[in-house]
Amino acid sequence: MSDSAFHYADGVLHVEGVSAASLAEQFGTPLYVYSRDALTRAYRAYADACAGRKAKIHVAIKANSNLAVLNVFARMGAGFDIVSAGELARVIAAGGRAEDTVFSGVGKSAAEMREALQLGVKCFNVESIPELHVLNHVAKALGKKAPVSLRVNPDVGPKTHPYISTGLKANKFGVAFSDARATYAQAHAMDNLEVVGTGCHIGSQITEISPYLDALDKVLELVEQIEADGMHIHHVDVGGGLGITYNDETPPDIGEFVKTLLDHIKKPGHGQREVYFEPGRSLVGNAGALLTRVEYLKPGEEKNFAIVDAAMNDLARPAMYEAFHRIVPVVERRDVKTQTYDVVGPVCESGDWLGRDRDLTVGQGDLLAICSAGAYGFTMSSNYNTRPRAAEVMVNGARARVVRKREEVKQLFAGESVMPD
Ligand code: LLP
Repeated sequence: MSDSAFHYADGVLHVEGVSAASLAEQFGTPLYVYSRDALTRAYRAYADACAGRKAKIHVAIKANSNLAVLNVFARMGAGFDIVSAGELARVIAAGGRAEDTVFSGVGKSAAEMREALQLGVKCFNVESIPELHVLNHVAKALGKKAPVSLRVNPDVGPKTHPYISTGLKANKFGVAFSDARATYAQAHAMDNLEVVGTGCHIGSQITEISPYLDALDKVLELVEQIEADGMHIHHVDVGGGLGITYNDETPPDIGEFVKTLLDHIKKPGHGQREVYFEPGRSLVGNAGALLTRVEYLKPGEEKNFAIVDAAMNDLARPAMYEAFHRIVPVVERRDVKTQTYDVVGPVCESGDWLGRDRDLTVGQGDLLAICSAGAYGFTMSSNYNTRPRAAEVMVNGARARVVRKREEVKQLFAGESVMPD
């Protein structure tokens, strides 16, 4: 596996000091498992590379919003990037601070803005003129000034999957680059807004640095224009998006990525500006795995199927993006034949697959680990087919702790009722 927190000892997959087989035995499957050490190391890589510069890491919690995960980052001094009032509530429940939180997203409601302003978030990353008007209105009613940064759309191709590329003209995100200066002028003229920054987010699972540098060049050019127009840009937000190794991708390592970007922002006139990062996947992706048990092996005319107890409702990425996740046995076996399987779940959809054409040495009842599932795994899970969502466990050295209980079926329809007649 791509992270040493997950390793084999005596033929059994371990998460730090704990056998994954014992975790599955104790807590059942499907089971999300996270390594605290891997989370800590990924965050430190960002923080260490920022040392000596004015920079702040805001964890994009959409990738993994479990309170225990957020708490690990909060204790290390992280800020947070949120896209809903619900995510803000999670940050605070996990020990994070609103003052260290930036509020992103293309469709914030007035109610969400009100809540975020009252709690005192650090910055609203605004994406359109109508949104500026609503925020100004909400801030006025509260007698406050809302700190604002525009998310500009630099129109650069991040060379990633079209569903997760966000900085192209064709995407719904951000203010068009050609409109950005005029939009800043409008924001500046609104009484209850205070322009504090600018930024962009060009996509996700990006494995090259060059699209970032292209985007930054445009953003820095814009900063100079806006400052010439009388605003002070306190920070530049470079977004998130750094990719991870799922299979054979070779993204730059976190330190190299951060240093290259910070160096780029050292250009004359920009060196003292604070730089914000919004990483999600690169902090949590390879710190988690999804453990699942093989229910049945089903030979077919064209394909063999390994039917497991995890499904697209637990991990949506393969069904949604044809995403690749490595799938490995928890206990290595030599006594059964290696065969090629599609690893599929019990959900009634042909799209319910987790891996295709995988060579696996498995038998019925065996455990498998679906790797690199710490990002956009649990957070995108659903109750489709009335399947309770999986439990989540965090491992710290030789100890494991349930950080989210497995859902029970009765919880799933607790809020429903039948018509009285
Ligand atoms: N900031 C903003 C404004 C974002 O929209 C995102 C992700 C991030 C930060 C964090 O990006 P990251 O570092 O995780 O790449 N569900 C998809 C990924 C969607 C990403 C959406 N935005 C997947 O499973 O691949």
